Amino acid sequence: AHPGWPAKLGPLVVSAGSVTVRPVRLRDASAWSRTRLENRAHLEPWEPTGEAPWDVRHAMSSWPPLYSSLRSEARRGTMMPFAIELDGAFCGQLTVGNIVRGALRSAWIGYWVARDAGGGGVATAALAMGLDHCFGPAKLHRIEATVRPENQASQAVLRNVGFRQEGLLKRYLDVDGAWRDHLLVAMTVGEVPGTVCDVLVRGGRASWP
Ligand code: ACO
Repeated sequence: AHPGWPAKLGPLVVSAGSVTVRPVRLRDASAWSRTRLENRAHLEPWEPTGEAPWDVRHAMSSWPPLYSSLRSEARRGTMMPFAIELDGAFCGQLTVGNIVRGALRSAWIGYWVARDAGGGGVATAALAMGLDHCFGPAKLHRIEATVRPENQASQAVLRNVGFRQEGLLKRYLDVDGAWRDHLLVAMTVGEVPGTVCDVLVRGGRASWP
């Protein structure tokens, strides 16, 4: 039982273009690898430390095993691994992880967007659609996210969609080669007036196609 999976979300239109969110695919290998290799400097400061070097971890041949581990978590109901598309082209990922049902009905959400596609509302739109999906079809109650205090762009994205700060997690995650403090932000379903996408549209940050 995995309500809300698989699903295709959007489009939502922002200044960068038309944003859609859909499950990752095996055939994302070349776009994923190319984008991750080109965006190393943009991504590495904010991402979990990997064992192998960046170039090895993001070779095209690394996608099939990563894809199958994402897919098996999705089949177990613990994850919703999405790709983000801008005007139909792969430009990043939106991942809902550690989905716990029962009395918690909670998950975390995370994302990245290629530098070339950034600055025009893509992450904000993808996150808004992801949250509405979590609170709607996926029937979750609480979504949390963690972000480094130094990551101003991601904090702006989280603020844009209405996340509330809950605390500072000291030496929380092994990111970019060291244990890094992270801010914990969260949102529960009742906090959203209508849908998150409606809030963006009403605020002039996005529009329906
Ligand atoms: N300082 C302060 N604010 C900034 C900066 C900066 N250096 N750069 C951008 N911003 C603001 C923009 O003004 C904008 O805010 P606004 O809408 O209030 O004007 C916001 O950051 C960016 O919003 P979007 O255009 O929706 O986001 P974008 O598509 O550019 O993606 C993202 C942002 C996801 C952080 C991208 O830069 C990225 O992938 N970075 C590297 C990986 C990363 O940090 N991922 C997030 C990890 S934390 C998590 O997943 C919860």
